[in-house]
Amino acid sequence: MRVAMIGTGYVGLVSGACFADFGHQVTCIDKNEEKIALLRSGGVPIYEPGLDQLVQRNVREGRLDFATDLTEAVRAADVVFIAVGTPSRRGDGHADLSYVYAAAEEIGQVMDGFTVVVNKSTVPVGTGDEVEALIRKVRPDGDFAVVSNPEFLREGAAIDDFKRPDRVVVGTEDPRARDIMRELYRPLFLNETPIVFTSRRTSELIKYAANAFLAMKITFINEMADLCEAVGANVQEVSKGIGLDGRIGSKFLHAGPGYGGSCFPKDTLALVRTAQEAHAPLQLVEATVRVNDTRKRAMADKVIAACGGDVSGKTIAVLGLTFKPNTDDMREAPSLDIIPALQARGARVRAYDPAGIEEAEKLLKDVEYTTGPYLALDGADAVVIITEWNEFRALDMDRVKAALKSPVVVDLRNIYDPAEMKEAGLSYTSVGRP
Ligand code: UDX
Repeated sequence: MRVAMIGTGYVGLVSGACFADFGHQVTCIDKNEEKIALLRSGGVPIYEPGLDQLVQRNVREGRLDFATDLTEAVRAADVVFIAVGTPSRRGDGHADLSYVYAAAEEIGQVMDGFTVVVNKSTVPVGTGDEVEALIRKVRPDGDFAVVSNPEFLREGAAIDDFKRPDRVVVGTEDPRARDIMRELYRPLFLNETPIVFTSRRTSELIKYAANAFLAMKITFINEMADLCEAVGANVQEVSKGIGLDGRIGSKFLHAGPGYGGSCFPKDTLALVRTAQEAHAPLQLVEATVRVNDTRKRAMADKVIAACGGDVSGKTIAVLGLTFKPNTDDMREAPSLDIIPALQARGARVRAYDPAGIEEAEKLLKDVEYTTGPYLALDGADAVVIITEWNEFRALDMDRVKAALKSPVVVDLRNIYDPAEMKEAGLSYTSVGRP
């Protein structure tokens, strides 16, 4: 199959490289000339474990190339993916679809022969209809089908998620498009990955429903952690105790500082808006958004309490800035709320992150960055672990204690054992555990 992938952001690049690895002929297209030049020279503009090797190998073997103009690739393609960004629109929380619509028009102008146009970007229900109408307007005689095929990739695990997904969702009522989509994902079906064929609107909603449900699950366990703290119970054991019930499931039950990232915050907000406008409000999701926003700021109060109620003039060491490990992505990261809240109360912040510092420098003010975890701790009044990078999981506690001015450790990801920390002589605070 010949595939044109429009947009070399996170989703586009990972999907393009993986389809090439399946044996298809893929061209990834982006208007950003710098990005394309970088990709052509063997570089990868995003941080994702394993992606650079995957891209380089498929380029070398002749199945993957890059272009700034979509004409040639779209004309030759059986399948054209739209994988451009859909940021939150300023002011109203709706997804901004201008990039999707612009791509649709351009595709319409140049496509040739039966073309399957697939929306991979996360788009509100009904966007597929709009894309179809737009293409139809540009090419009244065009032979094409517009399909919804949402992605469920997690940053940091995207290649594995693509190659071993729990399911593939395809929304179309066109039988030819259905056959082409089945052929495209064929290597997965040999592994018996379930494929859910459904209507386009249902498929569009599945993506939002999945993300909202996961965000709700995290928020549930986060509130449960607060309750555990109030009544003297242990949230990790609550997670285990409920997660073993197959109806609940053990994943996404880790209490923490609140969810962040490029998907959950944006998608829950967009879904809330869609539901309100459809006069079918999703009150649980509304509450999830509200509770999560409050939580990120409340984490600063937790740190302040651990420091005896006052951080004014104190130095707080922060370990981990990105919204989760194995990414350099700072979007909606809890650190972006926690650090300014500490600074507002008079604290100085010194921080270390294995991959996020370059991004963090653009977003946070007056933070001193270090090149390793122990350097951040040196002489600090407390250390806060905000992101559970592996390299923070086995710190030498003697060194930690020696580096800190006072031995205060706030672990917002529950990566240490309270009993061991006590034994090490540290004043240890975690989330939802006695
Ligand atoms: C998510 C979805 O998982 C993925 O299917 C979708 O396509 C995009 O959005 P991602 O944002 O990359 O992926 O990260 P994910 O691993 O889901 O984590 C999201 C946020 O939730 C992070 O801030 C993480 O720290 C937090 N989280 C996750 C928890 O606090 N507790 C958990 O148990 C799981």
